[in-house]
Amino acid sequence: MKTLMTLTLTGLLGTAVAAPLPLIPLPLKVDPGEGAFQFSAETVIRYEADYVSEAKLLAEDLTKLTGTRPKLVVAGLKFSAPSEIYLGSSHNDELSASGYELKVRPDDLVIRGKDAAGVYYGTRTLLQLLPAGKLAGISARIPAVTISDGPRFGWRGMMLDVGRHFQTVADVKRLIDWMAFHKLNVFHWHLTEDQGWRIEIKKYPKLTEVGSFRAASPPYGNRKGQDGVRYGGFYTQAEIKDVVAFAAERHITIVPEIEMPGHAAAAIAAYPELGNSDVAGYAPQVMTSWGVHPYTFAPKEETFHFLEDVLGEVCELFPSQFIHIGGDEAPKTQWKQSPGAQEVMQREGLKSEEELQSYFVRRIGKFLASKNRRLIGWDEIQEGGLPQTATMMVWRDVKWGKHALALGNDIVMATNSHLYFDHYQYPAAQELAKGKEYEAIGGLLPLEKVYAYDPAFVAENPAQAKQVLGTQAQLWTEYIQDMKKVEYMAFPRIAAFAEVAWTPPDLKNYENFRLRLEGVMEHYDAGKVNYPKPVPLTKP
Ligand code: ACM
Repeated sequence: MKTLMTLTLTGLLGTAVAAPLPLIPLPLKVDPGEGAFQFSAETVIRYEADYVSEAKLLAEDLTKLTGTRPKLVVAGLKFSAPSEIYLGSSHNDELSASGYELKVRPDDLVIRGKDAAGVYYGTRTLLQLLPAGKLAGISARIPAVTISDGPRFGWRGMMLDVGRHFQTVADVKRLIDWMAFHKLNVFHWHLTEDQGWRIEIKKYPKLTEVGSFRAASPPYGNRKGQDGVRYGGFYTQAEIKDVVAFAAERHITIVPEIEMPGHAAAAIAAYPELGNSDVAGYAPQVMTSWGVHPYTFAPKEETFHFLEDVLGEVCELFPSQFIHIGGDEAPKTQWKQSPGAQEVMQREGLKSEEELQSYFVRRIGKFLASKNRRLIGWDEIQEGGLPQTATMMVWRDVKWGKHALALGNDIVMATNSHLYFDHYQYPAAQELAKGKEYEAIGGLLPLEKVYAYDPAFVAENPAQAKQVLGTQAQLWTEYIQDMKKVEYMAFPRIAAFAEVAWTPPDLKNYENFRLRLEGVMEHYDAGKVNYPKPVPLTKP
């Protein structure tokens, strides 16, 4: 790697030298070799039986590249081909879980993974070494190289909010595919919001009949306005299963989020008896404006039965170890006013509404534990005392992360300072000059700032560092109406984020990343991704 880094820096100084291999995230070790492997439409994929799924996915990708489906040959079968890509197991103790080795030599190309995820990541690296889009000639030369690689963090996530704006199954899959290209492995699917409930729950049909539609939305350029257009959508359970399977093949776990006790207006509009119906002016509706709304679930037994039923169905659909229960921005106004909520506080000896939220979270956590699942929630879940087994997703001030680590809880760093991809990538004035559809929620998060992030900086010792499970980028969609805009906000920051999540900080270098990004952007272009191309770095 040193060699590549040196070449790159020389490159910036203006000398004509070879560019680094266009790999993002940067692998742990890259040793260039002599010569090249000749790849063509006749190249076959030979695989050990455990990796048939990875072999098939690679075959699909290569078919898109060459227009010809490569032959798949199981290891041990006699078959003669001009060249072979081999997918197999590695017993190298130096490789971490999800790690792989990729050896490209003139005579062969071998990917060996520590596990199936490792084999898959090896194939993703291979795709980045191949030309983007359609192969112009009949073959491509892949320069000889030995790569040894593995991830820094086990949680490399991206969250998509489909509550504010719904995305189709096809578009969700497209995002998942691009996540896989960047070796991300957790898709956090934010499925319920004040402005829409997006998952079919068989026992409670009104959640989607009523809760998945709102009467209006604020249009771009008029955030306090209402367009008067009915808006909605939801995923059937069959669609969810399909997406879960699609992600699993790509070694991506889907963590579903069901928001509670706040951001629940759509559910409460569908079943008003679940809210604090004993407060003055109670009139729940699926919200038509953004922001934080007062409607919270009432902390009563009927609500817990309902949520357990919902989560029961959610656990059937999602094999994920973690189930996200939201917990953010739950105003305590209704609980303060509600005689019912106050009675629960008295009965349980709770001194504040924050403690009432922790009571709520603890009960749900127990239910999830009974299903062998782990609860994860936004950092507000610790304000009234953090349940011991809860994992916390840190989005606000890092003091919440430090606090959770000191208590011994696991965390995922998803901070709004560096990882909120709904913030502007370029200054607001510059973006808005292009049109009102370029509006973002606010903030300014340039590519370089994402790249500079280190999720483990909150840890004060090696034990705490282990409690940092990983990191996650957020796509909140108040100002992201469709997939084109999702892409515009997510790319190329997803590339910087992938390197934050995968590559050890001592190997990271922004200028080197930008050179590699040039090659990766060719894949974005071939995939017709809608993204703002960063201006090339100027030579010093
Ligand atoms: C959040 O941004 N409300 C988690």
